[in-house]
Amino acid sequence: MKINKNIEVEINFKNVLTTPIRLFGLVYPYFITVFVIIGLVYIHYINNITQNEMPPVLPDTTVYQKDVQPVKGSVTTGIDLTLITKPGAKYIQKGKELYTSNCVACHGDKGDGNGPAGAALSPKPQNYHSAEGWKNGRSFPMMFKSLQGGIPKSAMTGYDFIPVTDRIAIIQYIRTLAPELPPVTPDEVKQMDETYHLSQGEKTATQIPISLAESKLIDESKQSEEKAVSILNSINRDKSAPGAVLFNSITYDRKKAIVTLSKTNDWSKNISEFLNLLNDNRDNGFKTDVLLLSKDDLTFLFNYLKNLFSVQNS
Ligand code: HEC
Repeated sequence: MKINKNIEVEINFKNVLTTPIRLFGLVYPYFITVFVIIGLVYIHYINNITQNEMPPVLPDTTVYQKDVQPVKGSVTTGIDLTLITKPGAKYIQKGKELYTSNCVACHGDKGDGNGPAGAALSPKPQNYHSAEGWKNGRSFPMMFKSLQGGIPKSAMTGYDFIPVTDRIAIIQYIRTLAPELPPVTPDEVKQMDETYHLSQGEKTATQIPISLAESKLIDESKQSEEKAVSILNSINRDKSAPGAVLFNSITYDRKKAIVTLSKTNDWSKNISEFLNLLNDNRDNGFKTDVLLLSKDDLTFLFNYLKNLFSVQNS
């Protein structure tokens, strides 16, 4: 066998280490093996790796939000609009006291906007004597608006926690400090009255917690259930009475019909209210035939039921 002399029989390592291309040829199978092993290990543990990342904790939206507190509805009495047009001296004096405790720190005791707390502010507190710089404006309604809602992006916050009459008193005092402010016109008074319901006052609804509302609803439905049962008993007691016969013939669910009627008293005012109730809510225990009754029959039925309920209510 002829041996090619050029082929090394033994590997000359010195030579390999100094020739980069040969060195690469020697080591690349090891790298590939290592990468493949890392890859296999990664795939094997992939579940553990992803599971270790904790899923974000989401708030449980099925839990009830904090229930509201009971608030008794209130009716703020309307105010006398002459407080705007013709404030008395005593009223203005009250405005001065309120201005001193709430506004002087920024707007200054002369109203020129350089109270000690206002010095570092930007924008600066409004100088009431100047015609410049007003965001809302210096008319009476605009000053009232600023007091109600404040001026965004400034130290001027809203003062709606101060009662309306007191806020007007403050503005009146400011207007004595700065007589250059424009006089208030009847239109402006009207506009303020419309916007803020000044003369008629405002109503706020009574608010009760959901839990209490629920138990009230249950009580009420229990009550109307009991009432319905006793009315049904009295219908049954005299089954042959023409009213009872008519009632039984035009209802598909007698109890439901009575429950419908015991939920409100409005229907007993007159026949058209009675028809409205039957029309508004079709699943009310009455057959639709009830809407086709002759006027006489309808009146008869109406009076019969009205009578039943009024005996029951008294
Ligand atoms: C913490 C400081 C501060 C207090 C307290 C403060 N204000 Fe102001 N007020 C300001 C600043 C600042 C401005 C200017 C806002 C702007 O120009 O953006 C301003 C502006 C106003 C304006 C002009 C609104 C407009 O149209 O630009 C009125 C009116 C006013 N204040 C009334 C009052 C009254 C009345 C009180 C007291 C109940 C009061 N402020 C209390 C800082 C204050």
